[in-house]
Amino acid sequence: MSDMTSRPQIARRQDFDEIVASLGEFWGTRDVAHLHHPTAIEEFGDSALVIRDRNGRVAAYLFGMIVSEKRLGYVHVVAVRTDQRGQGYGRELYDAFCQLAASRGCNKIKAITSPTNSDSVAFHESIGMHASEIADYSGPGRPRIIFSREVAPAFVPVDPPVPDVILRPATRGDVADLLRFWRLAAEDSDRPADRSEALEVLIARDPAAPLLAVRDQSILGCVIVGWDGWRAHLYRLAVHPDYRRRGLARWLLAAAEQRLRALGAIRIDAMVLDSNDAGHSVWSAAGYVRQDNWSRWVKPLAD
Ligand SMILES: CC(C)(COP(=O)(O)OP(=O)(O)OC[C@H]1O[C@@H](n2cnc3c(N)ncnc32)[C@H](O)[C@@H]1OP(=O)(O)O)[C@@H](O)C(=O)NCCC(=O)NCCS
Repeated sequence: MSDMTSRPQIARRQDFDEIVASLGEFWGTRDVAHLHHPTAIEEFGDSALVIRDRNGRVAAYLFGMIVSEKRLGYVHVVAVRTDQRGQGYGRELYDAFCQLAASRGCNKIKAITSPTNSDSVAFHESIGMHASEIADYSGPGRPRIIFSREVAPAFVPVDPPVPDVILRPATRGDVADLLRFWRLAAEDSDRPADRSEALEVLIARDPAAPLLAVRDQSILGCVIVGWDGWRAHLYRLAVHPDYRRRGLARWLLAAAEQRLRALGAIRIDAMVLDSNDAGHSVWSAAGYVRQDNWSRWVKPLAD
């Protein structure tokens, strides 16, 4: 048991099972079972979020989906357990979803509710969504309120240095490919071995942190953009050996800096092995300066 509630995290199947087994605690007597389909977790690609209470139970959840063609983040359902209301969880889930959607290239968030659901209308308006009613949206005589809000794109779209390469955060589906990519491309001396569990924990904790440069499903580059609310740290920067010296690292670092600036970071650091000359060059070229008045103090934690 921890003393604190969690921040929004990517929902897992066990969260979904817990939610559908306790819908009454979130929705009272309303029958909303039809809104809770496992596709939200299994198929829509890491776009469902939960906040857990101090006992590890789901306190609030948001099932969303990313519609890439429309650059849209769609919120299908959001609910806070009745005994957990009034603590800002709804807003926190929305903020986290907006950030997630922006990191996947979206510029708009949308949600839909019934005009009779006055609590939902008040909530969505209070978090800055613009409301408009569309008669017959759900069929003849069934109006709905459509909420929308712009979100600032996480990365200013600039031309990639290699044609057809896009930037996107890694999802759980990328874990095996990313581990393979690191074995091929990354600096690997003097550090703990990469593990899929560790990567999955990172993606669940901060889905926008592992940033990939991808072409045709192949990973050509990566950097982890770490932000803990205080410190900004870039690590695991690597570019595929066949694509080096074409500006991919510089491009990844520029996107990483945009994200960190938007989050409020005022300084970024990176650790580079003393023997890694290419590493030194790329960080210098991007404006980073070596500090000689600090050294790294490390204590490995035993199992
Ligand atoms: C370091 C690494 C990420 C650079 O990736 P990259 O895509 O080739 O870098 P870029 O093309 O964006 O280079 C940007 C600038 O960095 C400098 N640079 C990059 N690689 C260099 C090298 N091997 N020698 C000298 N300068 C280099 C240059 O100034 C370059 O600009 P230029 O090509 O216009 O001269 C890549 O070599 C790599 O993946 N190495 C193994 C993993 C690693 O060591 N990562 C760094 C961990 S701290």
